[in-house]
Amino acid sequence: SSPTVLDTLAQHRLVPVVVVDGADQGLGLADALIAGGLPVAEITLRTAGGLDAIRAVAAERPDVVVGAGTVTTAAQVDDVVGAGARYIVSPGLSRAVVERAQEHGVPVLPGVATATDVMTALDLGVETVKLFPASVVGGPAALKALAAPFPGVRFVPTGGVSADNLPDYLALKPVLAVGGSWMVAKGLVDAGDWAEITRRTTEAVDLTKES
Ligand code: 3PG
Repeated sequence: SSPTVLDTLAQHRLVPVVVVDGADQGLGLADALIAGGLPVAEITLRTAGGLDAIRAVAAERPDVVVGAGTVTTAAQVDDVVGAGARYIVSPGLSRAVVERAQEHGVPVLPGVATATDVMTALDLGVETVKLFPASVVGGPAALKALAAPFPGVRFVPTGGVSADNLPDYLALKPVLAVGGSWMVAKGLVDAGDWAEITRRTTEAVDLTKES
């Protein structure tokens, strides 16, 4: 059978967290990520153009595993699924968001920061979660401690990750993939510096192969 979306994220081990103003930037960024060997993008709804960017990348770059980030309401789940998002990421754990994503049959990674959050996710049938903001809650040591009581749970630490600390997260067994914006920084996108985005992406992909 074909791999699931979560299998694909686990295979790449990286989830670039993308902030773009619209379709053109989304497509430029998708091409820069593809050139760097990472056909994965979590396009956030932080900007008004995020939804258009998801729609454009889903339609025009079908090889990119495109998801939606910063999804905080059930209505946004409907919007991003309609636009073609293949997975949903949220900064926190909302029952409404999780249940709506499940109704659509689309994987959802709610944000967790505590053991209570993890238990709520498990109650909702979710075993893959985003640890957010990973650096603020204590970094790799916090992830290790939080994961210990929950052997079936897989984490996507996000928030404050860079090329410097990426290997520390990748070294942890419960880590499915690591998320972050460092390789796709908004300043680089606005400057159209696709070459630097591709360079950082290649560097990160190389780190996943060494870890
Ligand atoms: C997110 O939305 O997941 C975070 O903004 C990503 O965190 P970072 O910008 O610190 O990588």
